[in-house]
Amino acid sequence: MDHKRDIFSSRRAAIFAMAGSAIGLGNIWRFPYMVGEHGGAAFILVYLFATVFLSLPIFLSESIIGRRTHLGPYGAMAKLAPGTPWKHVGLLTICSAMIIISFYSVVGGWSVDYLFKAIRLEFLPERSEQVSSMFGSMISNTWLPILCHTAFLGLTAVIVVLGVRKGIERFSKISMPVLFVLIVAIMCYSLSLPGAGEGVAYLVKPDFSRLDASAVASAMGQSFFSLSLGVGTILTYSSHIRKSENLITSGLGTSLFDLLFAILAGFAVMPAVFAAGIEPGAGPGLIFETLPYIFSSMGVQMPVLSSVIAILFFLTILIAALTSSISMLETGVTYLVEEKGLRRRTAVIILFGFTWALGCLCSLSFGPLSGVKLFGKTIFEFCDSLTSDFLMTLGGLLFTLFVGWKMFRADVRDELTSGGLYPANAKIFKFTYFLIRYVAPVVIGVVFVTNLLM
Ligand code: TRP
Repeated sequence: MDHKRDIFSSRRAAIFAMAGSAIGLGNIWRFPYMVGEHGGAAFILVYLFATVFLSLPIFLSESIIGRRTHLGPYGAMAKLAPGTPWKHVGLLTICSAMIIISFYSVVGGWSVDYLFKAIRLEFLPERSEQVSSMFGSMISNTWLPILCHTAFLGLTAVIVVLGVRKGIERFSKISMPVLFVLIVAIMCYSLSLPGAGEGVAYLVKPDFSRLDASAVASAMGQSFFSLSLGVGTILTYSSHIRKSENLITSGLGTSLFDLLFAILAGFAVMPAVFAAGIEPGAGPGLIFETLPYIFSSMGVQMPVLSSVIAILFFLTILIAALTSSISMLETGVTYLVEEKGLRRRTAVIILFGFTWALGCLCSLSFGPLSGVKLFGKTIFEFCDSLTSDFLMTLGGLLFTLFVGWKMFRADVRDELTSGGLYPANAKIFKFTYFLIRYVAPVVIGVVFVTNLLM
């Protein structure tokens, strides 16, 4: 298929786009909570290990496949392993990305609603009693969450229609710096609250006794999820990186930004939670129930400041979620444009329709469809756990196996050194290749099988 392909204009643009994909809801609510739950700084240490020895090898594997071919997951695998079933692996990962965006967009929709609530000053002190219960009644409502999900997905679609360079690159270049400024501002506010120290201690005190096997598995899962691995998204973005670019640098840069944002988010969320004397809870409850309550109860002393912070906080969540959802949609769009010859706009409309419909089912599973269960889970929970616990790990495993065992060693080396442009990379090639070929697949394989059996 002959089509013109965009290339990210610079290294910074590529890293910002990939960091945009990586930084999302996973960093804002999952990371802070998990750190506290699994032993503070001790968990961060394991998380770092998992990132370097498992996530980075998957990240590089996806980058190598994408940049080598300048094609999406399906086309890339069909080209590198013609006549084999590998292309179906590519297709499977694309389907995973489409499932993730469906439920991710529902949560993105909640953040749209909460942003409007914050703007309408619904989190004022005199209302703090109603604030926590607002969440339950909002998500179980039929139409409002669907409307917000539609708005969120619509925004995603508009950016993706504009293309990689004019849409994705431009949006990421503006939103990444904005996100960092916002999260630092919120962190300063949070740290200034009386009693914030306990929240800091919750995050930094290493408690090795809580580091059990489940903590290690969680650290790994969180690291995969946070870096958007296993669903062909990093592969797709990497296919727009120019040949002379250093893949190792962009992988490291993206992971560092992602980690930094997660830690900043931890210091933005937890001190506020402890200052309000609330037990940190898991999941969306933390950002949609607890924090609005905190904004409103803290507002007694500083109503204007806390209203502004509430608006900024939900704006941060919205932007972070958007930069992730555009990367998921782009993964599917690339397939339809490249392999089916559709126009970008048509591809976006088709995928919008599919993910919108599945997203509606996910949204309704908090309300009218809450009784519909698949393997004991609601539709939303099922889509979440199918992808996070199963498909993402499987995808990551298959990508490393493909690069480690199916591709030619010389080609892998050529990509990692960008055709010899980066001699320093040649020095660490052996080690990196060892991680991709043996360490990552074995460890991920063990965890995958254990998850499957449990
Ligand atoms: N990394 C995103 C976050 O932290 C979530 C995510 C998971 C994702 N898988 C993805 C984003 C695939 C894009 C593509 O919120």
